[in-house]
Amino acid sequence: RTRVVRVDPDRPDPAVLAEAGAAIREGQLVAFPTETVYGLGADALDERAVRRIFEAKGRPADNPLIVHVATREDVLRLAHPDPQGRWESLARRFWPGPLTLILPSRPVVSPAVTAGLSTVAVRMPAHRVALGLIEAAGRPIAAPSANRSGRPSPSTARHVIEDLAGRIEWILDGGPTGVGVESTVLDLTGDRPVVLRPGGLSLEQLQETLGDVALHRHEIDPGEVPRSPGLKYRHYAPEAPVVVLEGTPRAVAEAIRRRLAEIGPSGTTPLGLFVSDETLSLLDGQGVLPAPGVRVKRAGARHDLEGIARRLFGALRELDRARPALILAEAVDERGIGIAVNNRLKKAAAGRVERCVEPP
Ligand code: TXA
Ligand code: MG
Repeated sequence: RTRVVRVDPDRPDPAVLAEAGAAIREGQLVAFPTETVYGLGADALDERAVRRIFEAKGRPADNPLIVHVATREDVLRLAHPDPQGRWESLARRFWPGPLTLILPSRPVVSPAVTAGLSTVAVRMPAHRVALGLIEAAGRPIAAPSANRSGRPSPSTARHVIEDLAGRIEWILDGGPTGVGVESTVLDLTGDRPVVLRPGGLSLEQLQETLGDVALHRHEIDPGEVPRSPGLKYRHYAPEAPVVVLEGTPRAVAEAIRRRLAEIGPSGTTPLGLFVSDETLSLLDGQGVLPAPGVRVKRAGARHDLEGIARRLFGALRELDRARPALILAEAVDERGIGIAVNNRLKKAAAGRVERCVEPP
């Protein structure tokens, strides 16, 4: 049985946090909101509890977890600072916040957390419930996203219930998360800092602090040993096949018009669309939409990258519920959090990207 408890995201009840913190110390699994997505937490220093996370999620054992801390000092108990001391300037500037740092790990961190790597991922989340839970537990908390492995990450407690009810002890429901995509993962173990996963903190913001930052290319060749184990799995994916449409709203609208014409007017092949307001206005009431069997989730205005990121995973889950034969998703500008949005879309699509051109 899973206990679902409502908490105020800004002023969580200390009694609830104390009880959930005690559950963590007892080796139980507690899902909790962060500013990015919901996490599935366990005592990071309890190897048995950590192994239960992998079981509950159906997560491959070679994909390591992020350890969540409530203070900067906690990091030095888990990890060695990088020689250049970059971690501290980054933590001062961006923590609490959607930035995960990879540092050389200390022996207290079990190989169950690091998947046997010599490094550990650490982050301080910007959420009262997450920070309160870590403090109440009195332990660092290992937490991946609280979804079944391979599913879109959860941005509401409802999503966690869908995936994990009956498999974990607690869900703290603090309402929808603010950022909507996961943290940026930054590897500080080499000479040059490398973004392994674009996320809630933008590349531009990191460059302001670090100067030079590399973005790990998204595609991993088969057989290659990936630098971040998470990179090799198909991710964030609904059941339905996804195709990403790149281009201007006019170009994307034209591509959708063509696809719908191919399918025909019967609506026997249900289709899901995740599209911008601009693209939708070129289809809606223009003789294309509404169409039978076509479900539309509005991403938002093209310039509103934050809003699009916030709605992304919920929209993919909702479109998937209608069991469509195909989901068409519009790519966004490759800047700010848009880089993370495009990265998640392309992973959901397993690389199927169509470059769309405007009609003459
Ligand atoms: O926003 C987030 O990061 C959320 C919330 C709950 O904090 N957590 C999250 O965890 O997204 P997860 O497990 O879904 O993704 C963690 C990513 C994976 O791609 C994993 O491979 C990578 O971080 N990672 C963890 N430890 C690593 C390490 N030592 N070296 C390289 N990559 C690591
Ligand atoms: Mg995840």
